[in-house]
Amino acid sequence: MRHALSFAPARYQESFEGLTALQAPNLQIVAKFVARALTGKDTPALKELRLKALREERNYFRPAYETEVDFRDDQWRTLCTPKEDHCYFGLFDNGRLIGMMLATKWEGDDTGQTALWGSAYIHPEYRSNNPLSPYYGRKLGRLMYEVREKWTREHPRFKRSVFYIRERNQRCREIHENKGAEHVYTEPLRPHHKNNPAGPWYWYERRFGQVAAHQKPLSNYIVRTLGCV
Ligand SMILES: CC(C)(COP(=O)(O)OP(=O)(O)OC[C@H]1O[C@@H](n2cnc3c(N)ncnc32)[C@H](O)[C@@H]1OP(=O)(O)O)[C@@H](O)C(=O)NCCC(=O)NCCS
Repeated sequence: MRHALSFAPARYQESFEGLTALQAPNLQIVAKFVARALTGKDTPALKELRLKALREERNYFRPAYETEVDFRDDQWRTLCTPKEDHCYFGLFDNGRLIGMMLATKWEGDDTGQTALWGSAYIHPEYRSNNPLSPYYGRKLGRLMYEVREKWTREHPRFKRSVFYIRERNQRCREIHENKGAEHVYTEPLRPHHKNNPAGPWYWYERRFGQVAAHQKPLSNYIVRTLGCV
């Protein structure tokens, strides 16, 4: 039987030096993994990984490779540099960036209480559902998911997060549904989506705090943002 990684929670700026892999026989392998917030210095590595993700997983990402490949260096640096309401997180194997994910303020909610989670990607070689991977079943991404959730919770302005996943991206939906995410809206297929074999976008919500009484259900903001009304 394979075991998930077990690890001590760490502050998002810190490395996972205290990482343990209790039942993992190959501790020396798992111990070299670190999840942390990215900084401006990580810009070239983020650019490389993000473009690989957009090129190879077109069905699962909304932005197009063709758009971002033309981003200027200062645009990449802005994306990679943490701010009060924006942070990219990375998963490193011995210093090499092998995974990424984002938390940022969602512009669809003008109260600023909603974080947008996105950009999740792990190099196929390290995915826990890839039977060809030496890390099959190890759930290395958990380090990064945990760090992002912790960062979001540490920013009390954020009472919830929103994210969208293709209907047939079963692994990603399962990960979030297991953590209690609620499917709140299905984005109707538009003409330019129709040929996507991964299906329509499912929008999800994770709640972290009491949303102000005057706030509408998240689906209202989504519909307004998508211009569907
Ligand atoms: C989505 C993707 C990153 C997942 O990679 P993965 O290797 O399957 O992920 P991992 O198993 O390492 O990590 C998920 C585990 O983290 C844990 N986890 C998730 N969120 C967590 C959180 N907030 N706190 C603690 N643990 C968490 C869970 O245990 C989960 O496993 P389980 O629910 O199956 O028990 C990967 O499949 C991928 O890159 N896919 C292609 C791109 C893509 O689809 N991106 C998403 C676009 S919407």
